[in-house]
Amino acid sequence: MTRNFQVPSGCRLIAHETVGSTSEEAKRLAETGATDGTVVWALEQTAGRGRHGRQWSSPKGNLYLSAVFRPKCRIAEAPQLGFVVGVAMASAIRALSDIPAELKWPNDLLVSGKKVSGILLDSSDDGAGGVAWVIAGVGVNVEVHPEDIDGADSLRAFGATFSVEELLEAFLSRLFDLIGVWSRDGFEPIRICWQELALATGTLVSVKLPGQLIGGTFEGIDPSGNLLLRHNDEVLHVAAGDVFPVSAATNTSTGAL
Ligand code: BTN
Repeated sequence: MTRNFQVPSGCRLIAHETVGSTSEEAKRLAETGATDGTVVWALEQTAGRGRHGRQWSSPKGNLYLSAVFRPKCRIAEAPQLGFVVGVAMASAIRALSDIPAELKWPNDLLVSGKKVSGILLDSSDDGAGGVAWVIAGVGVNVEVHPEDIDGADSLRAFGATFSVEELLEAFLSRLFDLIGVWSRDGFEPIRICWQELALATGTLVSVKLPGQLIGGTFEGIDPSGNLLLRHNDEVLHVAAGDVFPVSAATNTSTGAL
């Protein structure tokens, strides 16, 4: 079903025409001993999962994959992998096209403010504070996007001419290089690359926290991967929330939801 393409050393690629969810399949494999670097790829999913229990629309034409990693880090550091994956995908898209893909904290990829890709992390600890496995699931709207979701779009709509396979190949090569950098040199080089590919600092955003909406400016991420949000005269370190870029006209201050 696939043309021959270069898979990086350390990567074992398992290709499917259709699966329920590549992340569920990768989790099943991880729990039965799949090695670090196993990647499950499917042309379509029938039960794609997004963050916060949402569905991920997964018709043919887009990229759906989930990678199994077994990093030697503390479980609290596992979310750093989401930034590694984001950098690999944004730079793959930029290398294959003129599309200025931008990362949005924590795990989204936008083009002109429209979401074209999302990353879903699942992890399991080893019972001693370390990681048994992390599954990094990535969906990219290459050809199509759900029409009923406001704010979503596809790379094709922005002029992409590359195929799903070309994107997969470019992504995997960057991903495995960056995993090497992260394992060897830690999070700092990844943090710097992520910020270079992210929304500009100073961008006006709203951040949805449990029960609260805070307006401010995006100021990057801290050495733990927390969002840096300037709100009034303070810089807040936000560990979890949803970020929405806003125009100056609609910028909010703070309010209850
Ligand atoms: C998000 O909500 O933004 C994250 C979406 C992640 C979707 C991908 S598609 C491949 C992998 N398999 C899944 O079921 N989900 C992830």
